[in-house]
Amino acid sequence: MKTDSTSLHGMWSSKIAFILATTGSAVGLGNIWRFPYITAENGGGAFVLMYLVCVMSVGLPLMLAEIIIGRRGRRSPINTLRLLADEMGAHRAWALIGWSGLLVGFMVLSFYSVIAGWTLSYAFEYFVTLFSGASTLGDPGSVFSDLTSDPWRLTFWHTLFLALTAGVVALGVEQGLERGVKILMPLLFALLLVLVGYGMTTGHFGEAVEFLFKPDWRRVADGRVWLNAMGQAFFSLSLGMAAIMAYGAYLPRTIPAGSTAFTVGLADTGVALVAGLAIFPIAFTYSLDTGAGGVGFTFTTLPHAFDAMAFGHLYAVAFFLLLSVAAWTSGISLLEPPVAYLVERAGLSRPKAVLLLAAGVWVLGLGTVLSFNVWAHIKLWNLNIQELLEYASSNLLLPLGGMATAIFAGWILSRADSREELSDLPPWAYGLWRVMVRWVAPGVVFLVLLGVTGVL
Ligand code: TRP
Repeated sequence: MKTDSTSLHGMWSSKIAFILATTGSAVGLGNIWRFPYITAENGGGAFVLMYLVCVMSVGLPLMLAEIIIGRRGRRSPINTLRLLADEMGAHRAWALIGWSGLLVGFMVLSFYSVIAGWTLSYAFEYFVTLFSGASTLGDPGSVFSDLTSDPWRLTFWHTLFLALTAGVVALGVEQGLERGVKILMPLLFALLLVLVGYGMTTGHFGEAVEFLFKPDWRRVADGRVWLNAMGQAFFSLSLGMAAIMAYGAYLPRTIPAGSTAFTVGLADTGVALVAGLAIFPIAFTYSLDTGAGGVGFTFTTLPHAFDAMAFGHLYAVAFFLLLSVAAWTSGISLLEPPVAYLVERAGLSRPKAVLLLAAGVWVLGLGTVLSFNVWAHIKLWNLNIQELLEYASSNLLLPLGGMATAIFAGWILSRADSREELSDLPPWAYGLWRVMVRWVAPGVVFLVLLGVTGVL
């Protein structure tokens, strides 16, 4: 078949630009806010192990699948899937993957933006202490609850974050992203390493290592822990909602797709594990409840270290600013697929499409803002609005979307097509990938979902 060599929305300038953008999408709050707190709630070691199993058996093959489907179609995910389904003589209903991706992207960005707002707020607060000379922001628990109990402050930072995200998407993603990721992400990683170094001086580092890497084997039989681990793998790698598919659409044909996914997966997993090694020693040192976790875990743990370290508050400003940048590059990838669709479908200009969609996300985000205070009592299945959005997306919609995407790549897309897209892979690696997307990835998702519904 004849495939387009370029996309209407622009193209990545180089292999490294694509890797950076995709790493920028993957590395974000999922690694530094979500991974530690979900790990804590799921009891550590066994969860981490299951997470790694899911990354390798489902995550990496699926990342490749999304990249090559995107590049094959060169359009926004919905139109790409429709086009490829037509070509392969399959039903157009496969475009539902794209529709569900749109919905999930909306849901995720709406709460993601509020949490990213916390990081901006913390950066600002620590910045102020540099001048006021205050030695602490206050008790970390109270600082956090003061912020989350105030809907106005939450809304302010949520609005700022979303505006920054919308700004880059309006310009076209390949422009704003590259520089930010190339310099700032390695810096964030360096700061995490400094925090790991601090953790080593606390005398509780061993405890943290044991907690993270020594599995409690009884938990391996717990289907809910598996579901949480799989959800985290999807969330952290930005998979299951066609975000990476959208980025794949802008990947020049001359760039090998096979090796890129591996780099991104490695970077993402590395940052999560290092974030765990940075945060848990602090939690043990200050006797924080590592069993409880909770959505504020990272934000109530790190300040203890920032207050104790030399130049801690300066570090804090840098850390929260860089974390905001990491969240920013992720937020961009959540907004890009719907924007690309609206541009193609309605012929809107990029800025107009962005404004329209960001306004919708902003309003939905107010649900998350209020779920921490005024609407905290509104619960469904014992989950407040924010928890519901997070749970439904990462533990249900992303895995389902991912399973469908894997099936599409393995069973609908022809062998010749996928082989051509993955021509940089040696035959054994291509063969392995194909087995993974046809059988292993869908099988694992199916079994985990089945296990949770209690059938297993
Ligand atoms: N992976 C990002 C993080 O870890 C969040 C993210 C960006 C995302 N795009 C996504 C999550 C698409 C799910 C789907 O912070």
